[in-house]
Amino acid sequence: MSSSPSSWPLVLLVALWCMVARESHGASNNVKVGSISKVEDAENFHIYYGQTFKVIKNAIDGKSYLLIQNTSRMAVRTKYCTSRIKSYVIPLLNYSVDTQSSQGGVPVSFFELLGLLGSLKGITSDAVASPCLLKLCEAGEVVKLDKGAEEVSQFAAHFISDTDQIQTCNFANFFPLSEGTPLQRAEWIKFLGAFTNLETKANQVYDAVKASYTCLSQMAANKTKSFKPIVAWMEYDINGGVWCFTKEPHKLKFVEDAGGENIDTSINKVTYNVSDPDDLEALHAILCTVDAVIDETLSSDPQNYTQKTFLENINLEDNSCFAFNQSIWRYDKRVRNGTTLDWYDGAISQPNLVLADIVEALFPTGNYTTSFFRNIAKGEGVIDISPDMCDRDASLPLVPIIPACG
Ligand SMILES: *[C@@H]1O[C@H](CO)[C@@H](O)[C@H](O)[C@H]1NC(C)=O
Ligand SMILES: *[C@@H]1O[C@H](CO)[C@@H](O)[C@H](O)[C@H]1NC(C)=O
Ligand SMILES: *[C@@H]1O[C@H](CO)[C@@H](O)[C@H](O)[C@H]1NC(C)=O
Ligand SMILES: *[C@@H]1O[C@H](CO)[C@@H](O)[C@H](O)[C@H]1NC(C)=O
Ligand SMILES: *[C@@H]1O[C@H](CO)[C@@H](O)[C@H](O)[C@H]1NC(C)=O
Ligand SMILES: *[C@@H]1O[C@H](CO)[C@@H](O)[C@H](O)[C@H]1NC(C)=O
Ligand SMILES: *[C@@H]1O[C@H](CO)[C@@H](O)[C@H](O)[C@H]1NC(C)=O
Ligand SMILES: *[C@@H]1O[C@H](CO)[C@@H](O)[C@H](O)[C@H]1NC(C)=O
Repeated sequence: MSSSPSSWPLVLLVALWCMVARESHGASNNVKVGSISKVEDAENFHIYYGQTFKVIKNAIDGKSYLLIQNTSRMAVRTKYCTSRIKSYVIPLLNYSVDTQSSQGGVPVSFFELLGLLGSLKGITSDAVASPCLLKLCEAGEVVKLDKGAEEVSQFAAHFISDTDQIQTCNFANFFPLSEGTPLQRAEWIKFLGAFTNLETKANQVYDAVKASYTCLSQMAANKTKSFKPIVAWMEYDINGGVWCFTKEPHKLKFVEDAGGENIDTSINKVTYNVSDPDDLEALHAILCTVDAVIDETLSSDPQNYTQKTFLENINLEDNSCFAFNQSIWRYDKRVRNGTTLDWYDGAISQPNLVLADIVEALFPTGNYTTSFFRNIAKGEGVIDISPDMCDRDASLPLVPIIPACG
């Protein structure tokens, strides 16, 4: 997917501009676009501003989203749904969200940070990690819809992140996970801001999250002594009986930005079969170099996934001779009904909290309460997310949390 602005089909943009200028000529009620968002870090979308409309170029589906202000004459007269252009009337009066996918679907926390839960009308799965959304579901204000069904066509937009489905005209591909770094993912708040004329708010949230992330990263760099702590992201496939070290770029980036070092990139063996003595020996040898483990192993019962489970999975009776013996982490601290992790939602829109967690993991102060990570080497358990944990008016914006820094 090409993403540089120069790849923008200029002809198309000029054509849109002329058309829009003609359509809106004589419209009495033009919106003055007072605030704009400039995409600084994310690579997979760009926003362009006109007088009564905006265009989002979305590299995920290769389409241009023409966002037409509801006050312009064009709003009632124009509707695009072609292989290159889709149109939406903004600000959205209502919308629905695809919350169903193996990794939690569209992260709802982005909408919460903008204060948009009030116009959310439907979700495709109630397996969500947001207490306030759960509360709205309980109250019947948000309903569960069938995925991909005609039901979602009644809304001004239907946001999806699983692009592998049949899409109708109101579908919008909102896909922060397509980006390679934590901050690039968080910047997708500006994409939603454009649909709702909430650019100012989106910019504020992103600036605050980025400043917090940057400060924490500098603070961590200051803490690093001559040797950086070495971290392994690793996952056990229970069915295959094999371990592998995770190499997803955003995870490695978190470790670097937290003042740590990822296990040697020269380790390029893909899997370690615990039933194979040679593999097991090699795995234990690598673990001898590691100061902190992040165990990503899937569990249908996180509360019951303890240090004992981890040791059984790596085939060890005890780990007292390993440097990581006090530092074995999992990102399933906040979980709904044992299955839905906030890691796939809140952690994507507020990566500064993830970074703060990892800094605490690598340089423990004992003063900081982690958000998403728990240390199973210290017997830390999970927090069960429930609707009654919603402690604000759900229609008001969620205030981003900014951990102490410096
Ligand atoms: C446009 O949207 C705004 C905000 O939702 C609303 O107050 C206004 O009535 C809408 N105008 C039209 C013409 O639909
Ligand atoms: C959603 O908003 C659209 C206007 O964009 C309106 O036509 C439709 O009736 C609304 N649907 C619901 C279910 O509120
Ligand atoms: C990092 O250290 C530098 C130089 O000692 C200092 O100026 C800066 O404030 C520190 N930053 C943080 C975030 O602690
Ligand atoms: C792991 O090793 C055992 C014993 O050698 C073998 O039976 C099993 O098929 C291996 N598993 C995988 C996923 O290769
Ligand atoms: C907890 O996990 C252990 C294996 O580590 C298993 O034997 C036990 O049945 C589990 N307990 C529950 C309540 O699921
Ligand atoms: C943890 O490992 C260190 C050596 O790396 C050892 O000195 C210490 O006793 C171990 N602690 C526990 C609780 O096993
Ligand atoms: C929790 O999950 C179980 C199955 O995993 C399901 O039967 C139950 O309905 C769920 N409860 C809630 C409140 O979602
Ligand atoms: C914990 O916090 C207190 C007060 O904020 C501070 O004085 C103390 O130095 C902190 N401890 C560590 C280990 O950072």
